[in-house]
Amino acid sequence: MMEEVWGPYTFPLATVGFVVLLLFLLDSMWSFLQTCRALLAPLFIPNEQTSLLKKYGPWALITGSTDGIGKAYAVELAKRGINIVLVSRNEERLRNTAKEIESEYFVKTKIVVADFSQGFKAVELVKKAVGLLPINILVNNVGKQYEYPMYLSEVPEKELLDIININVGAVTMMCRAFIDDMKKRGRGAIVNVSSGSELQPLPLMTVYAATKAYIKSFTAALRYEYGSSGLTVQHLAPMFVNTKMNAFSARLRTSTFFVPDAREYAAYAVATLGKVDESSGYWTHGIQTFFTKFPPSWIRMYIGAHLNLSFRRDYFKQKNSTKNNGTIKGEDRIKSI
Ligand SMILES: NC(=O)c1ccc[n+]([C@@H]2O[C@H](COP(=O)([O-])OP(=O)(O)OC[C@H]3O[C@@H](n4cnc5c(N)ncnc54)[C@H](OP(=O)(O)O)[C@@H]3O)[C@@H](O)[C@H]2O)c1
Repeated sequence: MMEEVWGPYTFPLATVGFVVLLLFLLDSMWSFLQTCRALLAPLFIPNEQTSLLKKYGPWALITGSTDGIGKAYAVELAKRGINIVLVSRNEERLRNTAKEIESEYFVKTKIVVADFSQGFKAVELVKKAVGLLPINILVNNVGKQYEYPMYLSEVPEKELLDIININVGAVTMMCRAFIDDMKKRGRGAIVNVSSGSELQPLPLMTVYAATKAYIKSFTAALRYEYGSSGLTVQHLAPMFVNTKMNAFSARLRTSTFFVPDAREYAAYAVATLGKVDESSGYWTHGIQTFFTKFPPSWIRMYIGAHLNLSFRRDYFKQKNSTKNNGTIKGEDRIKSI
């Protein structure tokens, strides 16, 4: 009986299967393991705690830096003695953020008012404003998401174009604008902020997720092109972070174990810079990425679609309840998918 089950190919096939499974598990766990390594290594190998200031230089430029992850990232770099160029649309918010950072961390700041939905014009403006200041760390953080999960034809055309200009255009052209100077200096870091939505197609956030998949591919190839010139090109793919980008659902505007606030997130994410090329940037996000990558892409897409449908419901409930002064009345205008 045993001989029928255990044929001559059983052992080699089982070995191949085991190795494939092991590689799959390692690949899935990579981001999580790398984040753990980045955070634990300095405790055990003191030499690894090379300061970002020494490694890359004194100036960082962060796009979308008056709120959310971008502002928190700027604060974390300033804590390490790095001067910051802040870039966003609103001058007053830029001034306030600059004042806050300068008075608390005694670094220099420069502000640039630019709207990346305007495409290359905004990048030219930033480049001109920066002038001869050497940008040693470039954080392409600015990103645009739908107001709430929507079907493609519901998203205003202008909003779709803005998403493409900001999430794809700005990241690409900002890298193009600053990478040659970094290469000439033989050091520098680029951090491109993507999103966990890059892991599979994501209905109801279709264009947003597709732009983030672009960032993943773009960043990996860019690292290959410039890694040997001494540049760090890091890809950060956070899961949900409690910021105003997720205003469509109150569930995402409460900080939890899996949904950190921007400061908690950035404290971990900055600790991975220079140590990890690809990361979710936060330890509980590493766990989520690990489990997300287990099922095949079509199952993930199905789960993502239903999650987005529930966020869409949250959005309409919030909207109706505001309209009806706190009581949830009115029709829930949700289409089913
Ligand atoms: N929050 C999440 O759950 C999450 C998850 C995964 C990935 N991400 C990614 O993380 C990045 C940051 O997201 P966030 O949640 O921190 O965003 P956020 O809280 O909404 O902050 C966005 C920042 O960008 C600025 N900004 C917005 N539109 C701009 C434009 N057209 N030109 C220039 N600046 C602009 C805003 O300032 P002004 O309004 O003053 O211009 C603000 O400083 C994005 O790339 C996002 O896709 C976020």
